Amino acid sequence: MNVYLDNAATTPLDPEVIKEMNLYMVEAFGNPSSTHGFGRKTRAALELARRRVAQHINAEPGEIIFTSGGTEADNMAILCSINDLGIKHAVTSKIEHHAVLHPLEDLAAKGEIKLSYVEIDEIGHIKLDSLEEILSTNERTFVSLMHANNEIGNLLPLKKVGELCAKYDAVLHSDTVQTIAHYALDVKELGVHFISCAGHKFHGPKGVGFLFVSDRIKVHPMIQGGGQERNMRAGTENVYGIMGLAKALDMAYEDLEEHKAYLSGLKDYMIKRLREEFPGVHFNGDAEGESLYTVLSVCLPKTDKAEMMLFNLDIEGIATSGGSACSSGSDIGSHVLAELNIPEDRPVCRFSFSKFNTIEELDYTIEKLKAIYALPSVIA
Ligand SMILES: Cc1ncc(COP(=O)(O)O)c(C=O)c1O
Repeated sequence: MNVYLDNAATTPLDPEVIKEMNLYMVEAFGNPSSTHGFGRKTRAALELARRRVAQHINAEPGEIIFTSGGTEADNMAILCSINDLGIKHAVTSKIEHHAVLHPLEDLAAKGEIKLSYVEIDEIGHIKLDSLEEILSTNERTFVSLMHANNEIGNLLPLKKVGELCAKYDAVLHSDTVQTIAHYALDVKELGVHFISCAGHKFHGPKGVGFLFVSDRIKVHPMIQGGGQERNMRAGTENVYGIMGLAKALDMAYEDLEEHKAYLSGLKDYMIKRLREEFPGVHFNGDAEGESLYTVLSVCLPKTDKAEMMLFNLDIEGIATSGGSACSSGSDIGSHVLAELNIPEDRPVCRFSFSKFNTIEELDYTIEKLKAIYALPSVIA
């Protein structure tokens, strides 16, 4: 049996999305900037996709800039704000994705901004009083805080953060890569200036995403060249990627409540089974509280097989992650788990679910985990 439980890293394409993309690979292949019929047909489809995407988050079509994914969207929000808005102070948290942390740290290292970090509590929630303290004692600030943490699933009270930012005239970016398509997001109600999206996190294609840029903000393009994306992001559009993203988003929002109930059920079931079978188990972050229903980060009981845990699961055909997949393949441990002081000798598994997972797959995973713990000890 093959079980894919790493949906926070990426999700499989929905067959309906593949069908939609295929149309724009094979038939409607024109360059949307071409003025002939082939180009016009693609342009019309692209603009319709933009309108649909915008409607899902209560934005205007002109506020959606398609990008190559979440990383580019995060970088664009940061660099455009710092370059164009005259902002010299930024605040973020130490548990953001590297697509936010690295460009901010780079700007700070070059002396272009002062960078502050908001405090987090012992289970990884942002302390709002720390954010207010920072905002009230600094000049106009750029704030970047993710809506849900991709490693531990903690959810940010984004509306409250939006209210604080409005109080202090701060510019707010939120990395919503893990929450778009899983929660109803209304950019007007949330008071955000920027949000980021990546299509492959909700059964859409990789290499495509978007940045919402509020009409209240006037910034210049990060990537320059042709006048695509209303002069905001040069380069011929990834048409089939964009069409696939729009289709995946339509499908997610059509079935949002059903999807939420099904996936929450899978997560609750996994928590229950892990508790029954592994009495020493610990759930990282706020797993049973303010938490993304697609992500469950688990600290398994102490074992001398900790280092081999993901490998052993992989041998059984079970794909999970030890932290964020973005750092996998390197020896660098998770910067998020490090902030939570998780003991190094306990294996951490992040299970992340999608609509394609089943209870049977979770039972299989539990059985295989039990078998791994029953393996003879490495240390005699
Ligand atoms: C929270 C978050 N932000 C940004 C990204 C980067 O997105 P992409 O890989 O599409 O560039 C990811 C992907 O893992 C993510 O989980």
